[in-house]
Amino acid sequence: MKRRTFIRSTGTAAAGSVLTQAPFILAADKGLKRYRTALIGSGWWGMNILREALALEKSQVVALCDVDADALEISAEEIEDMTGEKPRIYKDFRELLENEKPEIVINATPDHWHALISIAAMESGAHVFLEKPTGHTIQESRAVLNTARKTERIVQVGLHRRIGPHHVSGMKFLKDGSAGTIGSVRMFVQSSGGTEQASPNSAPPEGLDWDMYCGPAPLRPFNRKIHPGGFRNFLDFANGTLGDWGVHWLDQVLWWTEEKYPKRVYSTGNRHVRGEAILSENEQTTDAPDSQIAVYEFESFHATWEHRKYAGKGAENTGVGCYFYGSKGTFHMGWRDGWTFYPSKKGGKVVRQAPQFDHEKDGHNVKMLWADFLAAIENNTRPVADVEIGHLSTNLSLLGMLSLKVGRSIAWDGEKEQVIGDPEANALLKRDYRQPWEYPKV
Ligand SMILES: NC(=O)c1ccc[n+]([C@@H]2O[C@H](COP(=O)([O-])OP(=O)(O)OC[C@H]3O[C@@H](n4cnc5c(N)ncnc54)[C@H](O)[C@@H]3O)[C@@H](O)[C@H]2O)c1
Repeated sequence: MKRRTFIRSTGTAAAGSVLTQAPFILAADKGLKRYRTALIGSGWWGMNILREALALEKSQVVALCDVDADALEISAEEIEDMTGEKPRIYKDFRELLENEKPEIVINATPDHWHALISIAAMESGAHVFLEKPTGHTIQESRAVLNTARKTERIVQVGLHRRIGPHHVSGMKFLKDGSAGTIGSVRMFVQSSGGTEQASPNSAPPEGLDWDMYCGPAPLRPFNRKIHPGGFRNFLDFANGTLGDWGVHWLDQVLWWTEEKYPKRVYSTGNRHVRGEAILSENEQTTDAPDSQIAVYEFESFHATWEHRKYAGKGAENTGVGCYFYGSKGTFHMGWRDGWTFYPSKKGGKVVRQAPQFDHEKDGHNVKMLWADFLAAIENNTRPVADVEIGHLSTNLSLLGMLSLKVGRSIAWDGEKEQVIGDPEANALLKRDYRQPWEYPKV
C-alpha cells in the first residue's frame, strides 16, 4: 500500500498535510523550458508551493529533501502521481545541492534554516523561492540578501500578498491618495485559544532526524508540539506570531510607504493566558508570547502591531489585516474579506473590493508569485517580492522581537542595520549556532 493511502486509512496524518487530491499534470515536455526544481522542506507549505509551480508546467521536480522520512515519502509519491516522474529524495540538503545542481530551490523549512539553506543553494548556482521570514535573526537575513546580490541569483520571498489582486488594487487606492494623508497604521492578528498544558517529551518518531531538524538551533528534547508545523511558537526555531503572520502585514506597510525602516521600535508581550513557558527533560510548552504589541515610529507616521491568541475576534470582527488611518477615512486591508474604505465624511460612500485568490481554500496567490519568479529569472529582473523587500519586512518583525527581549525601546539605524547605543540589543542581531553549523558571514 502506498504511504499516503496507508497514512490516510490509519488517520495518523497531520492536519493540513499533503493528502488533497492533486490534478494530474502531464510530465511530458511540451517543448517548453522546464526548470530543474528541488524542494527543501516538503511539509505543508512547501508542497503547496510545488503544486502551484507544477500547475504552470515549467518545472521538473528533480528532487525533494526533508529530515522527516514520512514527509519525504508522502510528498515524493504525490509528485510521482502528479507528474509521472519520480523525484530523487534526500535527507541532507548539501547532498541534494551537490548531486542535483538544481536551477531552482524552494526553501520551505522552519525559519531557523532559512538562511543557511538559501545561501548554500545560491552558492551552488540555484535561484531560490524562499519562504518568509528571510532569517531567524537580522544578520542571517542580511547574509541572504548579500549572497543573492553577490551570486546574482534571483530570490523570490513567499510574500504572495505582494501580488494578490486585492492587495495590488488596495495599494493603488492608498498611493493615489484616496484615503488622504495616512498618519497611523494598525496591524493585527486575533484568534481564539486559552491556557496551555505542558506535554510530555518523547523520542523523535522513527525516520525523523531530530539533530538535523534542530541544525544550528539548540538541540532541545523532541515534542509533538514542535513538528510538524508547531515550530512557529518555539523561539529556538522561529519568532512567534510576529515573525510568522506579522511579516505579511508589516510588508503591506512597507509597500505603501516610501520609507524603508522605522527609527524607533518598542514591543511588549507575555504569556499571561498560556502561562509560563516550560522546558524540562520530561515536558515542554511553547514559549512564544500569546499576546504582543509592537510600536513602530517612522518619520511620517507610526504603526502598531498587535496579536492575541485568545478571546477570539467576535467583538472587533476583524481577525487579520491592517487599518490605514487617513485624513479622508479608514482603509482596511484584509485577507478573505478583501479591502474596504470607510470615508470619514458623513454620507460618504463605502468602497469595497472582494479578494481574488489562485487558491480559494488556502486563500493565497502563490501561482502568480511563481509566474513572476520565472519571469524575473528569464529576464534577469527583480521579482515582485525580491529578497530586499523580504529582508526589510522580516527586519521589522525581528526588531519587534528584539525590543521585547531586551525590554526597552530601541533606536534603529536602518542604513547601518545597528541599534543605536545599545550593545546588548546589537548582540541579538545574531545568535550562537550549535556546532558544527557556522553563522553565515554578512
Ligand atoms: N507565505 C505564506 O503564506 C506561508 C504560509 C505557511 C507557511 N509558510 C512558511 O513555510 C515554512 C514551512 O512551514 P510549514 O507550515 O510548511 O511547516 P512544516 O513543519 O509543515 O514543514 C517544514 C518541513 O521542513 C522540514 N525540515 C526541517 N529541517 C529541515 C532540513 N534541515 N532540511 C530539510 N527539511 C527540513 C520538516 O521536517 C518539515 O517537514 C515556514 O517558514 C513558514 O513561515 C509561509
